[in-house]
Amino acid sequence: MSQENSCCRVCSRGFYSCHWRDPSKKKRKHACCWFSVVSLVSLLSLCWMYICVVTYNDREDVNWQGFTKLKQWVNWFMVLIIISAVLTSYCILLLLFALFQVALGEQLDLHWLHKIFLFFGVIFIAFGVTGISLEWQQEWPTVPLSLQATAPFLQFGAVGALTPLSLFVFQGFHRAKNGSKVLIAVVFVAVSAAIFLCPLLIQSPCLIELSELPKKPKLIGHRGAPMLAPENTMMSFNRSIACGVKAFETDVQLSKDRIPFLMHDNGSEFLLRTTNVKEKFPNKHFSYSANLTWEELQSLNAGEWFLKTDPFRSASQLSEEEKVAARNQTIPSLLQLLNLAKQHNISVIFDLYSPNQESDTDDTVSTILRSGIDPSLILWLPPAERESVNLAAPGFIQVYNTETEMFDKGGNHLNVKYNKLSTEEIRKLQRKNVTVNLWVVNERWLFSLLWCAGASSVTTNSCHLLKDMDHPDWVMAELKYTIIWILVDVLSFLIMTGLYIFQRKTHRRGTEKQKNNTSSWNEKELSPFLPTG
Ligand SMILES: *[C@@H]1O[C@H](CO)[C@@H](O)[C@H](O)[C@H]1NC(C)=O
Ligand SMILES: *[C@@H]1O[C@H](CO)[C@@H](O)[C@H](O)[C@H]1NC(C)=O
Ligand SMILES: *[C@@H]1O[C@H](CO)[C@@H](O)[C@H](O)[C@H]1NC(C)=O
Ligand SMILES: *[C@@H]1O[C@H](CO)[C@@H](O)[C@H](O)[C@H]1NC(C)=O
Repeated sequence: MSQENSCCRVCSRGFYSCHWRDPSKKKRKHACCWFSVVSLVSLLSLCWMYICVVTYNDREDVNWQGFTKLKQWVNWFMVLIIISAVLTSYCILLLLFALFQVALGEQLDLHWLHKIFLFFGVIFIAFGVTGISLEWQQEWPTVPLSLQATAPFLQFGAVGALTPLSLFVFQGFHRAKNGSKVLIAVVFVAVSAAIFLCPLLIQSPCLIELSELPKKPKLIGHRGAPMLAPENTMMSFNRSIACGVKAFETDVQLSKDRIPFLMHDNGSEFLLRTTNVKEKFPNKHFSYSANLTWEELQSLNAGEWFLKTDPFRSASQLSEEEKVAARNQTIPSLLQLLNLAKQHNISVIFDLYSPNQESDTDDTVSTILRSGIDPSLILWLPPAERESVNLAAPGFIQVYNTETEMFDKGGNHLNVKYNKLSTEEIRKLQRKNVTVNLWVVNERWLFSLLWCAGASSVTTNSCHLLKDMDHPDWVMAELKYTIIWILVDVLSFLIMTGLYIFQRKTHRRGTEKQKNNTSSWNEKELSPFLPTG
């Protein structure tokens, strides 16, 4: 038949098995097993890709780990995403080619090179999962959390994929012997039922009436607006004002001459990432904020690194003027920031990185009190000297890092990582009038979810994106969702029934023709996994 070598056939066969010419007539052993392997690895790579996409919000953690080990800023997470995307596309393509061949009635014969690639793919994913479990365990709760935002759509997607795939299952079913028939039927019915009925288990804070939607969470600029300007510089805080932030989040350390200044990195990474300290002091290694005087710190450039390493791949969005300004940034003092905050009536929340808690806290508090800022604008976070701070400056708002400490001390402000609380817990705290701030929330889906749950505010790197959101990505009344998923399920079921009947008819016709021994091509079309000889 001329059809034997049509372009599509040759391509899919060539890609899958590297037989560009006539298919080998020989029976391939284990073809079916390898087909299952391809399906499983595809599914696995899809799950892995999903994990990568939902943890993208915290990509800085991974890059930071890489930086502390190698002292060199590389966007490792981007590398991981690219490799995973290539792997996933490859597996899915392989699966599509295999299905295509089955549809055309070709023999399946996976080339050994693909087997090796699949093997490496599995190894890569296994390393990834182990890596997260060992080094980044606090990230796992993000995955179930993300399902509250994505599950309804994943379910629609799964139903959408299951419906056409059922054709292949029916094909196999009609052809199989009686024992296998039962197995195929049981597995297929179980999987379909799970996919059709899983909306019964889906819970999401966004399944509410629009009128029940809580107020939009306020934004807190994480080190300013670090995607629009170098972090922890006056430019960065100025740009975050344009987002309408409620508070500046920053990090404080003290210089040798007791000036509190703004710098996140401390310990052995001190100054290395965000300043030109290596050029200015080539033979010295500072690991302690009090190694330098305020004058020495001011002589460092704190902006050039941003344009050089482009940590968020956002530097290209800056205008020429902004680039000049970014290049000219220095390390600000806490006092400079307090003056800006005072001027714009914006709160300040900070971590204190201090080798000497007591005296550093005293000097920081006295700097704040001297600045003349309204004390209720200070959200005091460092837990170490909380009692004495509360005595010296009773006007500060005390913010706690854990629920237990907050309830112990009778506070009502909480500041935790976004995946530490379930959406239920956030809702409960909101009802108790506790102000809940969650860090660090950069992606729309996550912000939407926490909005539905009732978070008071979020600390974010991307205030310029979140400020424009007028409502969460999706909010749906529970009843409406129930009607939609039932309709989708019913539609899919009807299509599957149609496919089943069609398949049975084709099969009958095929077996009759075979009995009459008129042609053999029909049999081949119907039994791609079985020996043709
Ligand atoms: C930094 O300070 C620490 C502690 O005072 C000291 O041991 C170290 O030598 C200092 N390093 C430099 C480069 O001055
Ligand atoms: C750079 O900053 C300094 C002080 O912060 C300022 O005096 C100077 O004009 C700035 N230069 C440019 C080119 O913006
Ligand atoms: C500052 O903002 C708070 C609310 O965040 C408001 O209650 C207060 O009146 C403002 N103060 C000034 C001087 O605008
Ligand atoms: C929360 O605040 C509202 C209004 O400020 C008040 O009516 C309500 O009783 C408070 N709820 C609790 C549990 O304190």
